[in-house]
Amino acid sequence: MRSVVTGAAGFVGSHLSEHLLARGDEVVGIDCFTDYYDTAIKERNLAPALADERFTLVRGDLLTEPLIELFDGADVVYHLAGQPGVRPSWGSDFSTYVSHNVLATQAVLEAARTVELKKLVYASSSSVYGDAESYPTSERVRPQPISPYGVTKLAAEHLCELYRTAFGVPTASLRFFTVYGPRQRPDMAFSRLVAAGLEGSVFELYGTGEQTRDFTYVGDIVRALHDAATSDFVGVANIGGGSRTSMNEVVEIVSDLAGEPDVRRLAKVRGDVKDTAADTQVARDGFGYAPQVSLRDGLALMVEAARSTGGGGAATASGTGSAT
Ligand code: NAD
Ligand code: UGA
Repeated sequence: MRSVVTGAAGFVGSHLSEHLLARGDEVVGIDCFTDYYDTAIKERNLAPALADERFTLVRGDLLTEPLIELFDGADVVYHLAGQPGVRPSWGSDFSTYVSHNVLATQAVLEAARTVELKKLVYASSSSVYGDAESYPTSERVRPQPISPYGVTKLAAEHLCELYRTAFGVPTASLRFFTVYGPRQRPDMAFSRLVAAGLEGSVFELYGTGEQTRDFTYVGDIVRALHDAATSDFVGVANIGGGSRTSMNEVVEIVSDLAGEPDVRRLAKVRGDVKDTAADTQVARDGFGYAPQVSLRDGLALMVEAARSTGGGGAATASGTGSAT
């Protein structure tokens, strides 16, 4: 198989690239190393893939690279590049979200319609649901994002569906539910919490801590991406971790595994949903998806990785949002 991974230097993209290489794929990674967080982290993320001669890195922006040329001859394009982060997507930063999430996806789809792909898999997000009408949430529930980020992820997902129905591009959009594991982005809760636990330093908890998430281990996400790509599945599917846990419960588990962080409670941040929980029946029926890693086991793997690299790796991201 020949695969293209956009966003290959990121948290999920670097894990996916390694997984595909381990399976014997040839992988072309595309990434423009945005400054959403320290690019030195992205360089480190990519080091294992770069050591494999079947991996080629294209350092460039999807909006300017010759995508038709890069996609030509590929079996699958995994489109993971994007501007992540729910909380910083308000205000003047919104144009960055539109560019990296909507315009870049449209460019990917335009190129995809002129080449013969077996599958184009898009990294969509649970943030499209907003505060959902029902839990666990199925794909039939009406998406109502409550963050500008969620709006751009939903727009890109609609574009995938549109190019599928209008031009027959075989798209699969996977709605990831809060992904965690080693290399998690430094603006996300677990990477900060693990670092704070190991160092006994401050963890800023937004809101009451009663908010719940269907946290999903990155290894389960990577398997889902591959299995969706190699199945007949097209359309939209939730990918969750199989349990719903509050941030207060997560703080307890991390205290147990890593040490006690100094938790400071701040106000809830605008754009944060109260709860997420995935109904994963569509993914189960479509490509046999079942999460394999429990939250406690996944967190233990994160703590172990952070210990072996000498910390949580939770550097400050450029736009982490402020409490409102
Ligand atoms: P990440 O920021 O670590 O990785 C995204 C990568 O895309 C970065 O390395 C960035 O440099 C690159 N990129 C952005 N715009 C680009 C462009 N125009 N051209 C080339 N490269 C570009 O983020 P992540 O956490 O690995 O998330 C990957 C994808 O999954 C994103 O699309 C995100 O919206 C989606 N997602 C993530 C989560 C999660 O919990 N991490 C949940 C739901 C959806
Ligand atoms: C995550 C990703 O960051 C998004 O890219 C993704 O699209 C989204 O999941 C998704 O599932 O679609 P989020 O759920 O906010 O978003 O993930 P975290 O950043 O890990 O936050 C989890 C919870 O911890 C949130 O309630 C957040 O407010 C809280 N948090 C986060 C803190 O209390 N303190 C922090 O320093 C960071």
